[in-house]
Amino acid sequence: MILGRVKPLEAILATAEKKSLHRSLGAIQLMLFGIGCIIGTGIFVLTAAGAQKAGPGLMLAFVIAGLVCVVAALCYAEIASMIPVAGSAYTYSYATMGEFLAWTVGWALILEYAIAGAAVSVGWSGYFAGTILNEFMGVQLPTWLAGGPLALGGIEGGFINLPAAIIALLITWLLMIGTSESAKVNAVLVAIKVTALTAFIGLTLTSAYFDPDKFNPFLPAGVFGGFGTGVGAVGAAATIFFAYVGFDAVSTAAEETKNPQRNVPIGLVGSLLFCTVFYILVAAGAIGTIGGQPIMGPNGIPFPAGSEELALQCAMPEHAAALVCSDEALAHVLRQIGFSGIGNMLGIAAFLALPSVILVLLFAQTRIFFVMSRDGLLPEGLSAVHPKWKTPYKVTLMTGLLVAIGAAFFPVGQLADIANAGTLYAFLMVAVAVMLLRKQRPNFKRDFKTPAIWLIGPATVFGCAFLFLNLPSAAMLVLPIWSLIGFVVYFGYSRRNSHLGKGIVEVVDDVAGEETMIPIHPPADE
Ligand code: ALA
Repeated sequence: MILGRVKPLEAILATAEKKSLHRSLGAIQLMLFGIGCIIGTGIFVLTAAGAQKAGPGLMLAFVIAGLVCVVAALCYAEIASMIPVAGSAYTYSYATMGEFLAWTVGWALILEYAIAGAAVSVGWSGYFAGTILNEFMGVQLPTWLAGGPLALGGIEGGFINLPAAIIALLITWLLMIGTSESAKVNAVLVAIKVTALTAFIGLTLTSAYFDPDKFNPFLPAGVFGGFGTGVGAVGAAATIFFAYVGFDAVSTAAEETKNPQRNVPIGLVGSLLFCTVFYILVAAGAIGTIGGQPIMGPNGIPFPAGSEELALQCAMPEHAAALVCSDEALAHVLRQIGFSGIGNMLGIAAFLALPSVILVLLFAQTRIFFVMSRDGLLPEGLSAVHPKWKTPYKVTLMTGLLVAIGAAFFPVGQLADIANAGTLYAFLMVAVAVMLLRKQRPNFKRDFKTPAIWLIGPATVFGCAFLFLNLPSAAMLVLPIWSLIGFVVYFGYSRRNSHLGKGIVEVVDDVAGEETMIPIHPPADE
């Protein structure tokens, strides 16, 4: 039963062929697209949480997380070039491992996209409150509106993160009325982000404040802090992995790429490597100037990032300037070393560019919900398309409310860790699907073939499992609990209502586009 109800690959491809998108993208466009999705809250905000977990070892954490993403990206690229339709990892799993496992992937992707959207919203709110409201308008947001409650890991006196909830709802509204980001807008935003990071690197690494002693001790919490502790360089890697999430969106552009065998790996690996180099240099600049040692608990282990204990420590005057306590880490560093003006410009760059990351994540989430609902696994009414806007407005609104609630009450680090848990599961399943397809369908046409798949595939599985086990245990636990809820929904509703289960293969490609319905006999799993 577990592996039953496999959606026939041929039906999926029949739909993809009808669409036959024009192949127009080159390696540079793919890289720009990738960098646009990748650079966001991870580097602009989570640098603080990463330093709290690993100290200067954060630089090593960026390397570890980057490597896992590169191998995962190569797997994504192959399967996206084979099965180029909406639904990403969910659709890939449906075509290889059957409905039940596809359901678990789709369910985990909710964590990836919706919760990541919430995390980026909270990251944005830090820059909005700090740079726009405080620095430019001289307005101090009341504490109760600036963060979630302390009991949930928020701030002392916090109740709701109002700006985060508002930006999530605003983006939802844009998506509902059919806004999509053009390649030109993306290119401008990438230029803004890269300029801001380049200025940061240039100013910090050449600053008189830069002192190599700040890197000592390099690994105050060790390389491996222990499974479930979320500290040490690998603990930080599990969190900072968030800084790379989003590249999977690039792989879905494989079918629109010219000469995909060459350009897809260059685009994917290129954008990841580009970001990795920038991230390491940014970490070096931040730590080398204002220091990045964790605030240690009484047992000599760093206080957990996003914990109540750390929030209380950060409220003390002696930690006011600490990197690990800042909500707008990079702007904060520049202000500390005498570049307030440029720090504020960087704050504006984050304020302008992060909403586009939220948009990409929310868009991806709505499309996953949409495809799952059109497959009958979620109520079909949800996939209704608005007559005027031509968007799946109901799923979009549902997604937006979910994201806004997450953003309103939870801190960025916890949200990112939970998003990472779901993403790591999805990446792992994609690697398994690629390897399975090599065995099941060795002669199938692949526009891009992962090099050395029997090395890269297992490396992805191992890397994702390893990072997962190094998340804080609370974030790790969310995945099984969330999956249990998913099982209840699946066996209570989805299994009975599944179109494939009823003997109809339905392939949905995009909201406005055509769909293929092929009745099959007998029903798929009997
Ligand atoms: N990688 C994206 C970010 O860091 C999700 O915001």
